Amino acid sequence: MTQDELKKLAAEKAVEFVPENEYIGIGTGSTVNFFIEALGKSGKKIKGGVTTSKKSSELMAQYGIPEVQPNEVQRLAVYIDGADEINHSLQMIKGGGGAHLPEKIVAMLSDKFVCIADESKYVSLLGKFPLPLEVIPMARSMVSREIMKMGGQPELRIGYKSLHGNDIVDVHGLDLSQPLTMERKLNELTGLVENGIFAERPADLLILAKESGIEIITPHA
Ligand code: 5RP
Repeated sequence: MTQDELKKLAAEKAVEFVPENEYIGIGTGSTVNFFIEALGKSGKKIKGGVTTSKKSSELMAQYGIPEVQPNEVQRLAVYIDGADEINHSLQMIKGGGGAHLPEKIVAMLSDKFVCIADESKYVSLLGKFPLPLEVIPMARSMVSREIMKMGGQPELRIGYKSLHGNDIVDVHGLDLSQPLTMERKLNELTGLVENGIFAERPADLLILAKESGIEIITPHA
């Protein structure tokens, strides 16, 4: 199976985890695109979805899925999203699509986070995938210097602005063996709005699509 076929398999399985007549969160990326399509085609009715990117909003509209704004809801029953890397504790690196700030906000709003991924994303140690940072443009150089002091190599994502008009800096080579500690430490840097480590709010469940079929994984140490 191709990687896209595996992503589609995980995405289609996720529809089973969507309760009817509830508000849900919908992430960003190619795996989520398959999920939006599957949800639309399933005929399942939700009250509304909070989205995390323009692309996901557009696709939701295309499939007739109602959208609701994050400030209009108090809680979301479930959040469905992909990951760039996910470990055995279901901590993740996200933001390959530059949407980790809205994604983290929506994840925090959600009672349950269901991650959908193909097996290439499941790793024992986070950090091979460069860590995305959303940075206020005027702080870009200052934050990058601090990152170098921490052992990382920052690389500005050229020609890209986040949904909120900020820069994305991708960091290679940071030690992410303690994801929660690093997530908190990075967010102490002035001008850094949010980093792509999801350890404070890991996933509750992983739908992993493998050549051998779907595996449902819950966090273990
Ligand atoms: C976007 C994300 C995505 O979830 C992540 O990049 C995975 O993308 P894909 O499903 O295309 O592999 O964090 O900011």
